[in-house]
Amino acid sequence: MRNRIAAGNWKMNLTVKEGLQLATEIKNNSGKNNNAKIILCPPFLHLMPLKEHLGASNLSLGAQNCCDRINGAFTGEVSVKMLADVGIEYVIIGHSERRIYYHESNEVLKTKIDVALEFSLKPIFCCGEPLEIRIDNKQENYVLRQLEDSLFHLSSEQIKNTIIAYEPIWAIGTGKNASAQEAQDMHAFIRSKIEFQYDKETAESISILYGGSVKADNAASIFSMPDVDGGLVGGASLNASEFVSIIAAL
Ligand code: PGA
Repeated sequence: MRNRIAAGNWKMNLTVKEGLQLATEIKNNSGKNNNAKIILCPPFLHLMPLKEHLGASNLSLGAQNCCDRINGAFTGEVSVKMLADVGIEYVIIGHSERRIYYHESNEVLKTKIDVALEFSLKPIFCCGEPLEIRIDNKQENYVLRQLEDSLFHLSSEQIKNTIIAYEPIWAIGTGKNASAQEAQDMHAFIRSKIEFQYDKETAESISILYGGSVKADNAASIFSMPDVDGGLVGGASLNASEFVSIIAAL
């Protein structure tokens, strides 16, 4: 049975105080018996105070990025060793904003995946095509290349510890989400390629999240698709009642 997951990517928003308030509201309203796994991915600076503040709760924490090295002279970077040491469970790797603004290549992302798994962090690996590739109807090959270059070197046991997030770039922060059917088609394609590379059991055990303008009013229809196991939510995760509704849609 695959995990159903609602992950909130706060990006570079909120002060620590605002983040604690938001997390508290989400915690208090998201229900204890909910089957969904809830992961908050705030800026690095928030992780430790949030971890202490939340204590044992239904919310898990993830970082939005990590360095591809474990330690050393890499000014401004944060390593998976540090994240693991303070009990962070997840790390987003390969978000399109990292790929575009910080020029992260499939190759460097492959190393980030490896170091994250080495320190028992679960990567949330993002993939997805820009608009011009979608217009040319070449999105499947584009996404397949991202998977082949950064993920498919893993063993089946390792890839089972990763989460994949399909995030078409044209849908991120634009208010124009992929239709439920477009999301389903790509998720089914990704799962079929995992099955081809590994086996059916592996493919069936990996959660594939959709990301890109997920909101309270479109979440239920996107999440109802058989290969969509939840969402990676940006803007709407900054509003407690929106995010709680998205969690409820799972
Ligand atoms: P969005 O962002 O929900 O604001 O479109 C999603 C993401 O970038 O993960």
